[in-house]
Amino acid sequence: CGIVGYMGDRDATPVIMNGLKMLQYRGYDSAGICTMEYGAVDIRRSSGKLSNLERLLQLQPLYGTVGIGHTRWATHGKPSVTNAHPHRAGSVVLVHNGIIENYQMLKDELVRKGHWFESETDSEVISHLIDENLSAGLSFELAVQKTLLELEGAYALCVLSEKEENTMIVAKSGSPMIVGIKGREYFVASDMPAIIPNTREMVIMEDGEMAVIRNGKISFSTILGQELSKKTLHIDWSLAEAEKRGFPNYMLKEIHEQPQALRALIGDCLIKDEGDVLLEGLGLDDEALRSFDRLCLVACGSSWHAALIGKYLIEEQCRIPVDVEIASEFRYRNPIISETTLVIPISQSGETADTLAALREVKGRNRRVVSICNVIDSSIARESDGIIHTHAGLEIGVASTKAFTNQVVALYLLAIRLGRATGTISRNRGLEMIADLTELPDLVEKTLKLDFNAEEIACEHLTACDAIYLGRGICYPVALEGALKLKEISYVHADGYPAGEMKHGPIALIDRDMLVFVLAPRDRHLAKVRSNMEEVVTRGGRVIALCSEGDEETGKKAEFTLSIPWAGETLSPLLFNVALQLLAYNFAILKGKDVDQPRNLAKSVTVE
Ligand code: G6P
Repeated sequence: CGIVGYMGDRDATPVIMNGLKMLQYRGYDSAGICTMEYGAVDIRRSSGKLSNLERLLQLQPLYGTVGIGHTRWATHGKPSVTNAHPHRAGSVVLVHNGIIENYQMLKDELVRKGHWFESETDSEVISHLIDENLSAGLSFELAVQKTLLELEGAYALCVLSEKEENTMIVAKSGSPMIVGIKGREYFVASDMPAIIPNTREMVIMEDGEMAVIRNGKISFSTILGQELSKKTLHIDWSLAEAEKRGFPNYMLKEIHEQPQALRALIGDCLIKDEGDVLLEGLGLDDEALRSFDRLCLVACGSSWHAALIGKYLIEEQCRIPVDVEIASEFRYRNPIISETTLVIPISQSGETADTLAALREVKGRNRRVVSICNVIDSSIARESDGIIHTHAGLEIGVASTKAFTNQVVALYLLAIRLGRATGTISRNRGLEMIADLTELPDLVEKTLKLDFNAEEIACEHLTACDAIYLGRGICYPVALEGALKLKEISYVHADGYPAGEMKHGPIALIDRDMLVFVLAPRDRHLAKVRSNMEEVVTRGGRVIALCSEGDEETGKKAEFTLSIPWAGETLSPLLFNVALQLLAYNFAILKGKDVDQPRNLAKSVTVE
């Protein structure tokens, strides 16, 4: 899941290890490093955390000023030392992100030719193919090129060969790859945080491109060998964002950063007198906005939940149909996208493979794409026609918190802009919506301070194995997100349901062991939600009720009641979500789980 490479005049090992540490947040289950000295490569690998690899390196140090490193998130082959990267075949050593789909066929052919494989990975196949091509007499560069043409699937690769000292080849198709440049030093990585401590001058590689770094120089070409000249970008976001600032972990820090993240997003886009907002990156004027008769939001994970909230709020405010799609389904369904459909991928990282593929599917049909994205230089942001930048800042905790909140608010801003352009939102309604939004950061702050006895609630229910989250209307997707947060970080099985659906199945699960979170804001659904809560209590379920401040009635029969500030029907769900974040966080911490890097999860899923 993380690649780091270095070539320069310094000792490569510490540079690479520091880079890998910066990518830890993305999730991994094994790690490895290889350096080259006097033309010979040497590899160290270990399963588990990077600290295991560090201990190994203390016992068996590596030397050399050229090297590659990797943190692996298992896809093909379980997490183990032999499946960890770098992989070696003959003189070739490489690290790989992505999935090679035709690897079995390629592997069978190589086995027939006498190759022996150490691992179960698809990645090892690439090293054997390059080795095979080198043995056939091709130069290192041509051997890599020929190999790349045989691969189907996604890759970001960093390759060394003992046949060419001081040469590193980097290639990309479908998985991110960046090269940092500082004089004659080169830093290769799958994500910027690994490079930023060393240099801010970076080249972002595109699909089908490769780079050859040799003796202090770099050249770019297509994988067909056509020379390219690439622009160097200056990246100026700060690494201070990547510090914990006194919080015990990134997740809690990011939960508490929500007010400031919201202020950053809302900051300069409100046009208060007009009841409208300025979304500069959108690239669509009023007339263009009026030409759409349908929106299609595409996303994965928490971003998909944000999209679902967006459907409720945009349909309500703008009276335009909104479809919400899970990217991995959408991309393979031959979706119907007319000229009057505006497609909106939503992604924190901007690199999620399925969401990116969905975007490309739409672009391939010449349809307009505006993305909602938190990383401005990411593939999704770059390939979209327009962008709403969510301004949440660097999010490191694997479970999305502040990025999710800002995605919802980005959709709220889009609703205002769209409604004002089409006339479904009057100036007065626009002014009201903006007034509600302006108060939101303070209300999130207030919600965070309430604390809700979250620790006591978690302590009381620590043995619970199952949880249900119920909500109606715009709180239904919040129920989904609450359940996802709990299962992601505390490994408690949890599901969200529309409260009205409970009677069609989930109610059969209710007994004394079932924890039920009921989202009951004082909105138009309150009476119905109360009845649903009664149904749970009658069957012995243990209810934790989230109610609006001032509502003393609703939670009377619940084991615990959380009083959430009121921010209007449309924005209150975000405050309910903040409370659910705190609850999930406390469950996980009391269970002793690693909230920043939960098992088996990755921050940015760049494979299918
Ligand atoms: C992973 C992360 C989730 C995230 C999802 C979509 O599963 O663990 O937190 O919501 O990817 O990521 P994106 O970067 O596209 O929003």
